[in-house]
Amino acid sequence: MASIDISAIRKSYGHFPVLHGVDLTIRDGEFIVLVGPSGCGKSTLLRMIAGLEEVTSGEISIEGRRVNDLPPKDRDIAMVFQSYALYPHMTVADNMSYSLRLRKTGKERIAEIVASASAKLGLDALLQRRPKALSGGQRQRVAMGRAIVRQPKAFLFDEPLSNLDARLREQMRAEIKKLHKELGATSIYVTHDQIEAMTLADRIVAMHGGVVQQVGAPLDLYDRPANLFVAGFIGSPGMNFLEGHYVLEGGQASVRFANETSVAVELRKALASNSKVTLGIRPEHVVISSAGAIEAGVDLVEPTGFGIIMHLSVHGLPFKIFTLDRSVLSADRTIRVDFPISRLHLFDSEGQRVD
Ligand SMILES: Nc1ncnc2c1ncn2[C@@H]1O[C@H](COP(=O)(O)OP(=O)(O)O)[C@@H](O)[C@H]1O
Ligand SMILES: [Mg+2]
Repeated sequence: MASIDISAIRKSYGHFPVLHGVDLTIRDGEFIVLVGPSGCGKSTLLRMIAGLEEVTSGEISIEGRRVNDLPPKDRDIAMVFQSYALYPHMTVADNMSYSLRLRKTGKERIAEIVASASAKLGLDALLQRRPKALSGGQRQRVAMGRAIVRQPKAFLFDEPLSNLDARLREQMRAEIKKLHKELGATSIYVTHDQIEAMTLADRIVAMHGGVVQQVGAPLDLYDRPANLFVAGFIGSPGMNFLEGHYVLEGGQASVRFANETSVAVELRKALASNSKVTLGIRPEHVVISSAGAIEAGVDLVEPTGFGIIMHLSVHGLPFKIFTLDRSVLSADRTIRVDFPISRLHLFDSEGQRVD
């Protein structure tokens, strides 16, 4: 197990900058999830930690030791990819023990380690099979087994569940979390899936365009997103945004919209009256009420079984709400809603959160 320090890391391919200076300290035993849309630089960062990609500038240390120039095999890190990259001609047991055999670990010791990993991953009945006789989920489990037997200082995962169907992904997600509780190994997990990030992470690192947007516990990012990007990225359906002006009148703060309606908000000392703001509210926090202050047109109603997603228009803009109340299935063409004051997020003209 190890702590990992990333300091002012930049990466360019030719003249094309991909990472614009990333700083991050990962504690010993921590489960970190790098999350962001495709192309934001997650894999590049992970591959630099593994030593598979050269660093343009900045420093990476593992357990306090600079590793920039250390080849991957000397970093004592195990990586699990989306493609399982198992040896097709080897059994599950041989795939798992391969690295130990290379290291000339004794036969008995190998058997012990493989048995322990196999038990943790539920692979006991499959040890003599070849990869082609395994399902996708089982192959991914073998790939993890192969990483575990090496007892590395840290695990790096790059979208390991992306090839699996939704049900299996959910199951494997829970298994990875249980495994981490058991092993307590420092882990960095890359995904574009915010639910995976929310459910797995001790801390999430939200990335966008090669820049870290926010680092924090999953519920911190959900409750207090640092900017419009994180606010829109975390949560599904995503947060609604309405543009307006922050107005302070007689000690009362509100956001006023172009159509002259307004919504009461909590006082923001950092904002001057009349500044441009974006108001954010999550679909699950909107309250439907016949006495609601805001009128909304109903465009579409989607029952998910668990709840209902309503596609509305508010001020002529698309707006979503999520409710458990099935009575909305027979809603009129317009409904009225309220925005509870404590549920409102405000972002300034630069898109930064204002509290
Ligand atoms: N070997 C490479 N040469 C040139 N550009 C690359 C290379 N690898 C990745 N990139 C570019 O770097 C950016 C980040 O890629 P990547 O780290 O794979 O993103 P993510 O994993 O977040 O989807 C993308 O714009 C991608 O096209
Ligand atoms: Mg990637």
